[in-house]
Amino acid sequence: MTETMTETMTEIMSNTLKSNTITQFAPALIAWQKTHGRHDLPWQNTRDPYKVWLSEIMLQQTQVVTVKDYFARFLAAHPTVASLAAASLDDVLALWSGLGYYSRARNMHRCAQDVVALHGGAFPQTAEVLQTLPGIGPSTAAAVASLCFSERVAILDGNVKRVLTRLLGFDADLAKSANERALWQLATQVLPHDDLWLSMPHYTQGVMDLGATLCTTRSPNCLLCPVEKLCAAKKGGNPEAFPVKTKTLKRSSQSLWLLWATQADGSVYLEQRPTPGVWAGLYCLPVFESYKALAAAVPAAAIEDLIDGDVFKHVLTHKDLHIHPVHLQTVEKPEHAALKIKGNWVATDAWPKLGLPAPVRKLLTSAMAHVVG
Ligand code: ADE
Repeated sequence: MTETMTETMTEIMSNTLKSNTITQFAPALIAWQKTHGRHDLPWQNTRDPYKVWLSEIMLQQTQVVTVKDYFARFLAAHPTVASLAAASLDDVLALWSGLGYYSRARNMHRCAQDVVALHGGAFPQTAEVLQTLPGIGPSTAAAVASLCFSERVAILDGNVKRVLTRLLGFDADLAKSANERALWQLATQVLPHDDLWLSMPHYTQGVMDLGATLCTTRSPNCLLCPVEKLCAAKKGGNPEAFPVKTKTLKRSSQSLWLLWATQADGSVYLEQRPTPGVWAGLYCLPVFESYKALAAAVPAAAIEDLIDGDVFKHVLTHKDLHIHPVHLQTVEKPEHAALKIKGNWVATDAWPKLGLPAPVRKLLTSAMAHVVG
């Protein structure tokens, strides 16, 4: 929090919101959502918790445009939670391949299995119980409960934090969990009070839509905002100063060497990544922490045939990976294919169907295009 607590903040922290904010914010937002919000996203116009849950998990760290395709493919492969629960984890990871943050897919699979095993195949209808399932945090639980079952609960994802901190002039540091809890408490106070069955889904979608389309991080479009008159940050002339969050992500970097071994028939050697760890459960070119370790995994006579590929950077949430592909062609010397590590030779028509980390898929695909082209 800033050193001197402003009058607004004292007011806010003691939870005495202005009464016009409590009475006018939700109705104005809902009216705006009905005419100016998003209505045609594939996971809208339904109260099916399976579809809403699937979309919410996908949208946690991925943009709407990317999610649309994956959402359609996922639903086509698994139209029900029972179907997803019965799938193998390998299948689920393959469908998820390229979306990143694979713990989402693993939790999603466990969640589907728990819905079937513990809840008779039907998603629980309250945020409180939804949160007991793997991968469903408080905000995702509130999204499903409010969008599908009209429960009067507040979501608080990144977009919503921006909208509400601006609306309320909430300048306490959200890096502190007590401040985030206080904001959540306030978010609950500004929820609709009437006609909840219809108003809650419009409200929840509206607050997300406002954050995504007008109340953006930079250059918010206050002129078109339906709650401009209520907005403390607009009044103060500094909406871009919100939200306040001091914690910066500590990034590290790591170099990895990938052994890219191929045989005459084009097959490639892949290992399944251990859990936990980077790319857990996915199929990957064998990963090593040094060139020396990689060289130790190939037959001694093959070491002089190793060819360094171009190094590239792959960005994970907390880490930059510097990836060094190292080729081993065993076309002329099949005996060099006797690798000293766990894994399997996978044919050219089989690996594209596996769950592969995005950079590995890119690498293998570009090599295929090169061969075919
Ligand atoms: N981001 C998270 N949930 C969303 C939703 N339902 N629609 C659009 N973007 C979202």
